[in-house]
This record gives sequence, C-alpha cells and structure tokens, in this order.
Amino acid sequence: MLPSRVPDPLPPLGQTLYLPSEAHQRDFGAGLSALSRGSVLFLEGELGTGKTTLTQGLLAALGFEGLVSSPTYALMQLYPTPQGQVLHVDAYRVRHPQELWEMDLEMLSAEARLSILEWGEHFYADFPEAPILRLEHVRQGQTGRILTRLR
Ligand SMILES: Nc1ncnc2c1ncn2[C@@H]1O[C@H](COP(=O)(O)OP(=O)(O)O)[C@@H](O)[C@H]1O
Ligand SMILES: [Mg+2]
Repeated sequence: MLPSRVPDPLPPLGQTLYLPSEAHQRDFGAGLSALSRGSVLFLEGELGTGKTTLTQGLLAALGFEGLVSSPTYALMQLYPTPQGQVLHVDAYRVRHPQELWEMDLEMLSAEARLSILEWGEHFYADFPEAPILRLEHVRQGQTGRILTRLR
C-alpha cells in the first residue's frame, strides 16, 4: 500500500491568499497542523494582521483548549497539546538574537511539535528550511487579511 500523502498546508512560493474573515484566518492556521513534527514557521506582519488568530487556529486544531495570547512580553510561550508542545516566539522586542539562543531556542524548537516565530528575521538564516509567511491588512476599507508565502 502507498503511504498516504500529507497535504501541503502552505500556498506555493510567492503566492498570495486572501483570508476574508477571522474564521478563514483560523482555518488557515488549523491547516498548518498538517506540518510535520519539528517544523518551524516564520510569521511577519504588523500589529493586528492576525498572527495570533492564525496561531489560535493551529493550536485548536492540535487539541489545545486553553487561552492563546501574543507572547510579546514573555518573548516565548510553550503550549502543551496532545501532540506535543507548540513553541510560540515573538521576537519583536529582541535586540540581540543571543537573548533567544540563551533561552534554549535551538533545543526547544527541535523538541517541539511545531514552532511559530513572529518577527524572527534575525533567525531566517539559522532555520533555512523554515517557510516565511507575511500577513498584511487589506487596503481601501476592505475587511480581511492578505497572506503571502515569502519562502
Ligand atoms: N482574516 C481576517 N479578517 C478579518 N479580521 C481578522 C482576520 N484575522 C484576524 N482578524 C482580527 O484582527 C484582530 C487582530 O488579530 P490578531 O491575531 O490579534 O493580530 P496580531 O497577532 O497580528 O496582532 C482580531 O480582532 C482578529 O479577530
Ligand atoms: Mg499577536
């Protein structure tokens, strides 16, 4: 028997997706739960573009039932899910990448079910396999968000 194919939850490189509502944003995040164990994913996008919403959708799909918030002040947050821990990092306030390495970023991300790194451009070169997703507001009073896969 052929192994069942793991669906690729990410859009092709450079492709832009329109996510018209918060529910779509959550659903997109839920789809990321198909990423393989140990995956690292970078998220960039200004305040309010739905980074936390997407992460909430992902965590719910992995079976985490608690509260999910922005880890801006904590820098990193570990969420226990039935499939393992999800690491959520917000590097916005990190001045020196060393701060996160000293918090065991390498080991934590290696052991996590999945890691989401917001504002992690200092770490793009350290995780060369990790996809980068950019979130943007839609212009001209339209609701929804735009998501582009940069890597
Ligand atoms: N695709 C979307 N369409 C409309 N509203 C959205 C969408 N995604 C998220 N939102 C809303 O935008 C607000 C900010 O989302 P949040 O996830 O906190 O953004 P961030 O973490 O990037 O600051 C929330 O009220 C959320 O419900
Ligand atoms: Mg947030």
